[in-house]
Amino acid sequence: MIDYIIGAKDLQFGYPDGTTALRGINLDIEKGHKIAVLGANGAGKSTLFLHLNGILRPEKGKVIFDGKEVRYDSRSLMQLRRSVGVVFQDPDSQIFSSNVLQEISFGPLNLGLSKQEVMQRVDAAMEATSVNEFKHRPVHFLSYGQKKRVSIAGILAMHPRVLILDEPTAGLDPKLIVQTTELFDSINKEGITIIISTHDVDFAYSWADRVLIMNQGQITCEGRPEKVFSNQSVLQENDLTSPWMLDVYKELRKKGWLVEHVSPPRTKDELFSLINQAGKKVEVPIMSKVSAME
Ligand SMILES: Nc1ncnc2c1ncn2[C@@H]1O[C@H](COP(=O)(O)OP(=O)(O)OP(=O)(O)O)[C@@H](O)[C@H]1O
Ligand SMILES: [Mg+2]
Repeated sequence: MIDYIIGAKDLQFGYPDGTTALRGINLDIEKGHKIAVLGANGAGKSTLFLHLNGILRPEKGKVIFDGKEVRYDSRSLMQLRRSVGVVFQDPDSQIFSSNVLQEISFGPLNLGLSKQEVMQRVDAAMEATSVNEFKHRPVHFLSYGQKKRVSIAGILAMHPRVLILDEPTAGLDPKLIVQTTELFDSINKEGITIIISTHDVDFAYSWADRVLIMNQGQITCEGRPEKVFSNQSVLQENDLTSPWMLDVYKELRKKGWLVEHVSPPRTKDELFSLINQAGKKVEVPIMSKVSAME
């Protein structure tokens, strides 16, 4: 039996100014999966995320966590937020303590843990997000990328069962993007479900187990990345581009330079290994060997 951790049923929501943001979202996310949510600006990704840990309350429909419908009394919400951590798109809306250490300790301190346990969690979260070097600095003096890492650390230290990150790598430098992605993978290996919104099709293609596409408040497509990104009409209708790896793979297949019946590579290493395998099968004619030496 499939074990779903979080989901929604016919979720509908409009903001007080009359903007309809969600128009009937149905969602079932399997425990331990890595999910990438894509969709144009204004598609409803952040609004959906804010529903998944009860910050926004649906107008119609429901959010389901661990098989139960989410309730909105303060006790139930507190329990939900222990299990479902959301890192906001804009770190300034998440961060409110004066220094980094206080900011990251705030959540765990409110869980009623021992001081020792709080310090262990905070140290581990700071180490994982590389914020140690500025732990005593005031948060408002940090750069955007540094604030982003502090807000990720604050949620990590809560040890959530579902980690939801709204465009977590936007504004990070290339080295930190690699490091943060590795961090998400190691957290996921511990069984934590991770949901990430992103505009980066290459990241979504190689990282996610499943991809969800949102368009005008609805989920318009869902599936394995290699399937979703191979569907040209889905890409066109949702203003998405094809990941470079899939383009290169298709081109090499079209030219007959890759072996038949292999599924598309998801990572650079997989692509290089396919190219190496194909290379070994090609017999270099003796003449070209000689001319290459001339
Ligand atoms: N606080 C708000 N008040 C009114 N309308 C809002 C508010 N926040 C978002 N919206 C509107 O709700 C819709 C969904 O917005 P949302 O921020 O969820 O989209 P998104 O997919 O996260 O976009 P982005 O990729 O730009 O982050 C948009 O039409 C947006 O203008
Ligand atoms: Mg958003």
